Amino acid sequence: MQTITSILALLAAATMASPVAISEPQSLEARSIEYYKRFDDLNPLTKREVNPNTVNSLTPAQLEAQREALLLAQSETAREKILFPNPPNASNDTFQFINNTVTPPTGGSIVLSTVSNFPALGSTGLAGAVGFVNPCGLNTPHWHPRSNELLTVVQGTLIGALILENDSGFGNVVGAPPPVIGALPQINTTLTNYTGMLFPKGIIHWQFNPECEPAVFVAGLDNPDPGRAEAARGFFTAEPDEVVQASTGYSDYLTPQQIKELRPTLTSSFTSIVESCAKKCGIPFE
Ligand SMILES: *[C@@H]1O[C@H](CO)[C@@H](O)[C@H](O)[C@H]1NC(C)=O
Ligand SMILES: *[C@@H]1O[C@H](CO)[C@@H](O)[C@H](O)[C@H]1NC(C)=O
Ligand SMILES: *[C@@H]1O[C@H](CO)[C@@H](O)[C@H](O)[C@H]1NC(C)=O
Ligand SMILES: *[C@@H]1O[C@H](CO)[C@@H](O)[C@H](O)[C@H]1NC(C)=O
Ligand SMILES: *[C@@H]1O[C@H](CO)[C@@H](O)[C@H](O)[C@H]1NC(C)=O
Ligand SMILES: *[C@@H]1O[C@H](CO)[C@@H](O)[C@H](O)[C@H]1NC(C)=O
Repeated sequence: MQTITSILALLAAATMASPVAISEPQSLEARSIEYYKRFDDLNPLTKREVNPNTVNSLTPAQLEAQREALLLAQSETAREKILFPNPPNASNDTFQFINNTVTPPTGGSIVLSTVSNFPALGSTGLAGAVGFVNPCGLNTPHWHPRSNELLTVVQGTLIGALILENDSGFGNVVGAPPPVIGALPQINTTLTNYTGMLFPKGIIHWQFNPECEPAVFVAGLDNPDPGRAEAARGFFTAEPDEVVQASTGYSDYLTPQQIKELRPTLTSSFTSIVESCAKKCGIPFE
């Protein structure tokens, strides 16, 4: 993932080089920046403006100290002494979500508020997320091991999908039906205009922006430490290769060599652009 600094450096370099007609082909990154820059001008929600009074400015050591103090506080009054020692300043009770620093070719960015970066959540059972999904961005199949999620699209369009669980058909369970072969049912729907979708705890799900415009979602999670497990990355990490082969039914389509070659390309969260959509939208893709 590119840092904002390196992107700015690239932009600066591009600007300095501009008086002469550029004959060198532009890099994928430079072309992507060009493509996405227009949304910043068009769309106030992608302007990345930050209210300094709402930025959680504590250092990692202060965050940890505050988390621990809140954990020991037994009453609301005790918690308030920790969170609000300087009324009416609310900075320990606010969290700045709007920080979209990701530039394509990645799929967007998610800002997650958890007990780690927002200690006030520790005693509440809550976490939150705001996702800035670039055109054609895919929030890759994943699950939250410790929380349900209610995700609401507040700008643009997302396809929301989840893969159903089946609590039988594993085979060799006494008195239960034989193993079932093949894909599980997927639930999918188009979310737009403030539609929310529930992604139950531990269920694999994904979201995809099928449009050529950015999308934004807001999500609430019912655990201050919801966690995130990546489906593909987690599964294909299993070693030795035969574990993957045996789990996929020794498919002719997935050889040990392919499994080895696949591992280094396994993406972590929220980084993908879907190729067919990128072609439709004219987004640089390689
Ligand atoms: C936020 O909380 C910390 C203690 O965790 C405290 O030192 C700091 O003064 C508080 N900030 C404000 C603005 O009240
Ligand atoms: C609140 O406190 C924070 C941290 O001390 C500080 O940066 C900010 O300026 C304060 N805001 C107001 C409105 O006083
Ligand atoms: C925004 O993100 C960048 C890059 O991660 C970080 O350096 C910066 O401190 C963040 N700003 C705020 C206000 O959270
Ligand atoms: C779910 O399990 C039941 C019972 O084994 C089986 O009949 C059904 O086909 C399974 N469905 C899927 C999609 O695997
Ligand atoms: C759900 O997925 C099916 C199969 O890919 C697709 O035909 C359908 O258009 C999708 N529905 C929505 C609302 O995205
Ligand atoms: C969303 O709202 C807009 C404006 O009212 C409307 O044109 C569009 O059809 C709506 N989309 C859906 C999927 O309901």
